[in-house]
Amino acid sequence: MSPLLVVDRLAVDYRANGRTVRALDGADLEVAAGETVGIVGESGSGKSTLGAAIGRLLPRTARVDGGVIRVAGESLFELAPADLRRVRRERLGFVFQDPIASLDPTMRVGRQLTLVLGRGTGSGDVAAHLDRVKLDARTARSYPHELSGGMAQRVAIAMAMAGEPELLVADEPTAALDSQVREEVLDVVFSLAATTGTGIIWLSHDLAAVARRCSRVAVMYGGRVVEQGPAAEVLGRPAHPYTAALAGSAPATAARGTRLEPVPGRPPMLTGPSDGCSFAPRCAFVIDRCAHERPPAVRVGDQDVLCHRAGEPATIGQGATT
Ligand SMILES: Nc1ncnc2c1ncn2[C@@H]1O[C@H](COP(=O)(O)OP(=O)(O)O)[C@@H](O)[C@H]1O
Ligand code: SF4
Ligand SMILES: [Mg+2]
Repeated sequence: MSPLLVVDRLAVDYRANGRTVRALDGADLEVAAGETVGIVGESGSGKSTLGAAIGRLLPRTARVDGGVIRVAGESLFELAPADLRRVRRERLGFVFQDPIASLDPTMRVGRQLTLVLGRGTGSGDVAAHLDRVKLDARTARSYPHELSGGMAQRVAIAMAMAGEPELLVADEPTAALDSQVREEVLDVVFSLAATTGTGIIWLSHDLAAVARRCSRVAVMYGGRVVEQGPAAEVLGRPAHPYTAALAGSAPATAARGTRLEPVPGRPPMLTGPSDGCSFAPRCAFVIDRCAHERPPAVRVGDQDVLCHRAGEPATIGQGATT
């Protein structure tokens, strides 16, 4: 069976004030039905651009410079507007960092849910959908500004999940919440998605939370997914030097006794396609061709890895030993 979501070599530029920023530089991702995938990476690595592209929700300044996105086999960039709306309505749901921005400030919560649920929705249905995100039925009478951040985010989740989408794209929806509320919201999303069979793409820089909740992890750097695979393997036995640095551990292939310094330097700000590996200036394992040859995807264990030296045990180990 083909995966629910396929992102293949997606490239996206932003153009503003005569400048070009390369936000995605050939990103690849596959998500099967019902899978929970955490997408991690430093700020600016392209997570939000990838999330938005999955719904063709990119801002006007963005330009798709190549690549394909398929949702249940349908090629998103080739769909007519009516078909795109159908795919969004029937298959996709989105939640963003700022819930207030995704709610209508002039309308009571219950009315907004009714609009999403469609004609014939009664107050009982609204109450049931609020209950699914652990909110009291009385919340229906509130306006968004009367809610706490955590409650507003639950309402946004209830709306995104109302149509029982096949895939929920969640872009750091808990980043602005305090830690206890964050865990409650995470519980609500992941248990609700498990009930409805909804797959999740969770964009986050919180590696720990992703490790606890997601079955798969994709690591982004410089607009590419540099490593993806089962969460336990990617985080426990990272094969890409950047993942290893993020996870605070040595690459799986490194020799014993290897110490990795926390990555010094700053993430790249690309203005066009990268000539080689964009991690090269910060990589402890860099070799000549890293600077001018783009690393292709290689399979290391259960992981897909973009690194010229992936799976080279002895050399990588020696490279980092001091
Ligand atoms: N609307 C925009 N206009 C111009 N540049 C943008 C815009 N949105 C994001 N970028 C740039 O694109 C790159 C990727 O950003 P983003 O997708 O937001 O990454 P992340 O979510 O991982 O922080 C960054 O360099 C960012 O500055
Ligand atoms: S391709 Fe080269 S620079 Fe990039 S991560 Fe691998 S070894 Fe490091
Ligand atoms: Mg972001």
